[in-house]
Amino acid sequence: MQTLRAIYQDLIEVGTVQPDDAQLNVMPEFERIRTELSAPVKKGLFRKAPEPPKGLYLWGGVGRGKSMLMDLFVEHLEGIPARRVHFHAFMQEIHSAMHEVRKTGVEDAIAPVAADVAASVRLLAFDEMQITDITDAMIVGRLFQALFEDGVVVVTTSNRVPDELYKNGLNRDLFLPFIALIQEKMNVVELASPTDYRQDRLGGQPVYFTPVNAEARAAMDAVWDDLAGGKGEVLVLKVKGRDVEVPAFRNGVARAGFHDLCGKPLGPGDYLALAEAVKVLMLDGVPALSRNNFNEAKRFVTMIDALYEAKVRLICSAAAKPEMLYLEGEGTFEFERTASRLREMQSEGWGL
Ligand SMILES: Nc1ncnc2c1ncn2[C@@H]1O[C@H](COP(=O)(O)OP(=O)(O)OP(=O)(O)O)[C@@H](O)[C@H]1O
Ligand SMILES: [Mg+2]
Repeated sequence: MQTLRAIYQDLIEVGTVQPDDAQLNVMPEFERIRTELSAPVKKGLFRKAPEPPKGLYLWGGVGRGKSMLMDLFVEHLEGIPARRVHFHAFMQEIHSAMHEVRKTGVEDAIAPVAADVAASVRLLAFDEMQITDITDAMIVGRLFQALFEDGVVVVTTSNRVPDELYKNGLNRDLFLPFIALIQEKMNVVELASPTDYRQDRLGGQPVYFTPVNAEARAAMDAVWDDLAGGKGEVLVLKVKGRDVEVPAFRNGVARAGFHDLCGKPLGPGDYLALAEAVKVLMLDGVPALSRNNFNEAKRFVTMIDALYEAKVRLICSAAAKPEMLYLEGEGTFEFERTASRLREMQSEGWGL
């Protein structure tokens, strides 16, 4: 079996990856888990199942390569049943599974749902663990306790150190056992690279493609491949009991068509939730805006404001340059600010 370090070196050689000492330093953690999981299980009637390896909680600033390293690890777990999933998506699955179980009259739904998850995987790899929702905060402790008891190994990336999870959240004292559990069952390691590679990759690259044609589509596809590095999953944001769907999401990067986000009756709260959930938004096919699509234009303005405030990177294909997008109709004056923001958001150092 080729070591992860050797696989990483290969990527350096072909030029996909720049050598990074901080990344190399966390590699042994992934290798440890990989080796322990690959060890053959000695069977015997009276032999106790071996203690599963400690997991890994890899945290650090944006664009440091946490998701990339975790993906590298997951892709090379030959034969070990593992699942890589965005933390938010996983928790939504858990909530709906619990909902189904409760319908059958079972009161403690966590145990059977956890058992179900544990039956199909030995390792769960979560991208972007963060807890902002009280319904998540109140169940993760018992959920993960059950998963760990069933021998599941957990690896996760996060932008926060465990102590800062669900910071200032409601009823946080009830959440604290989860932090203790993380510290007990996972090695907490910081990826302290000085480089934000996402920013690096975007630097000097065009991020605004016009007009909307096959060429723009191909350019957008290439950016997606580079930044997201794989197939996306649907991201469902729960906003005031409603679902806001983003068609593709991976690795902090979301991709949607203009109509997915501006052609539906979404409001400021929805765009704020979107801006909070993603680091980069790729938006395909912004049309020319006018009085004919006034509502779409208005939503677009609201969305750009939310993205701008949250310093989300925007990459889009559009019918025209920002200042030529909205030439006539009510709201042209307001749109000047949007155009200016769109221009600013294209600059290399923006969002830093
Ligand atoms: N050593 C490297 N050389 C070149 N590119 C890299 C390197 N490490 C990571 N990248 C690339 O930089 C981008 C950001 O990396 P990644 O998504 O893994 O960061 P992250 O730490 O998960 O960030 P976030 O906390 O925002 O999710 C990705 O496109 C990734 O492939
Ligand atoms: Mg990431």
